[in-house]
Amino acid sequence: MTIAGLGAYLPERVVTNDDLAATGLDTSDEWIRSRTGIVQRHYAAPEQATSDLALEAGKAALADAGLGTDDVAAVIVATTTPDHMVPGTAPLVAAALGTEVGAFDVQAACSGFVYALRVGTALALAEDAPVLVIGAETLSRIVDPRDRGVSILFGDGAGAVVVVPDETGRIGPFSLGADGRDPSMLWTATGGTRAPVSHQVVDDRSHFLTMRGGDVYRNAVSRMAAASRDVLEQAGLTIDDVDLFIGHQANVRILDAVAQRVGIEPARCHVTVGQHGNTSAASVPLALADARDGGRLRPGDTVLLTAFGAGLTWGACLLTWNPTTGGGNA
Ligand code: COA
Repeated sequence: MTIAGLGAYLPERVVTNDDLAATGLDTSDEWIRSRTGIVQRHYAAPEQATSDLALEAGKAALADAGLGTDDVAAVIVATTTPDHMVPGTAPLVAAALGTEVGAFDVQAACSGFVYALRVGTALALAEDAPVLVIGAETLSRIVDPRDRGVSILFGDGAGAVVVVPDETGRIGPFSLGADGRDPSMLWTATGGTRAPVSHQVVDDRSHFLTMRGGDVYRNAVSRMAAASRDVLEQAGLTIDDVDLFIGHQANVRILDAVAQRVGIEPARCHVTVGQHGNTSAASVPLALADARDGGRLRPGDTVLLTAFGAGLTWGACLLTWNPTTGGGNA
């Protein structure tokens, strides 16, 4: 299995920490930078929704792979911010691409891309055909702009890969996990079927994302480190065999702590959270594309991806960056 194409899309509008402080939010550039490493994030334009972002990243990945929509056997969109409760976002993206192949969403919050890559890899193998896997989010629409503990963290964007079944590369092994015993650690309490939208919900602002930051932080570090160790052990490799480490881009302190636990130095870690903020399911493919564009991926490199998100969910996978298929790997 090989990643034959890689694409990214970031909305034009850049929102700096100072921009957020200027809205009247009781925060500062200094606080945000020192606690999170975030300098700026991108916000979608009012007329853009997640499928629009996903479409741009998907088109870029297909072009990068030198493939057309007709070559693809399925479209998978990992997102926690769908255009609608019903239907899923992937069918909208597939329609905009001009295909009627199977299209469905994967909802595993910020771990969504790693989960979708697992599903997409298995599907590409089973169908013996390329699969388009996209991570896309418009988190700016679900954070409470008045909540300084949450709103400063998140941004919008999309990243995509085309997974191709061939013998030249490797995607895997994977390690996926979930613990749904305490979903309130990071969730939107209302707006779903347990507590549908009502005037009360809106008055309470409980349809926005809420989080217990410290608990999330501790779990993110331990789960991503454990999943990373698990895939290395499954592959019979050590951290010394990894050329590039890309963790979920939530907070630079979390990434540093994970890197320290797995024993990898900063030079082998790619960090984009400063520029993108936390883009949830889009963060890993966006960081991968950023690493590729910055010349940090060489043919044959072993890449370790790991992610963590609401649920709780977490995951990791190894892949070989293979230049023999797809222009983007060159
Ligand atoms: N600006 C200024 N002050 C802020 C602030 C902001 N944006 N957000 C919170 N504060 C305040 C708090 O109210 C608190 O004030 P108090 O001491 O008067 O009560 C103080 O800063 C410290 O808050 P605390 O929550 O202890 O800070 P922290 O160092 O734990 O950092 C997070 C908070 C959110 C950055 C951190 O917990 C975190 O990154 N958690 C993980 C979040 C995450 O990655 N979520 C997504 C995972 S997929």
